[in-house]
Amino acid sequence: MGVVIYTKIMERTFIAIKPDGVQRGLVGEIIRRFENKGFVLLGLKMVNVSKELAEEHYSVHRERPFFPGLVKFITSGPVVAMVWGGEGVVAAARKIIGATNPLTAEPGTIRGDYGANIGRNLIHGSDAIETAQREISLWFKEEELIDWQPALTPWVYE
Ligand code: RTP
Ligand code: MG
Repeated sequence: MGVVIYTKIMERTFIAIKPDGVQRGLVGEIIRRFENKGFVLLGLKMVNVSKELAEEHYSVHRERPFFPGLVKFITSGPVVAMVWGGEGVVAAARKIIGATNPLTAEPGTIRGDYGANIGRNLIHGSDAIETAQREISLWFKEEELIDWQPALTPWVYE
């Protein structure tokens, strides 16, 4: 058996199931895809997102024409906020999620399988390791993140 990877040193990403994903009953389906892949759930909570949090989360898009609509949408219903860990999890989660526009997202991805409109693309995933660190600390307190190791770790990582 090789080196065991501990959650403490694992790469982490921030994933949020947007209000459309929650309303459409896709929470279980979305979590299942990350669990099945072998990633580790390190934090999970349901959030009624404030305007301030939405604006800060999407601050990089502040000047874009879709920004007001995006903030209105993200604050329109509960969101499921999560932190997932694993080797290369930031980039791999983006692949599981698929392209921004569900109409061009590959079938087999979450957006490709369940979305039909760019403004209702179901899920958010951090786009880089630095972004992930910023988003995790924006959405979660350190004590809300669980440092644990699944018993199956040696069967997922060599
Ligand atoms: P996200 O941040 O939500 O994970 O999505 P992303 O990285 O794939 O795409 P990004 O460029 O960061 O855009 C953020 C969200 O803004 C909405 N959007 N609408 N109407 C439009 O042209 C447009 N473009 C982007 C989408 O909800 C997108 O997820
Ligand atoms: Mg983005």
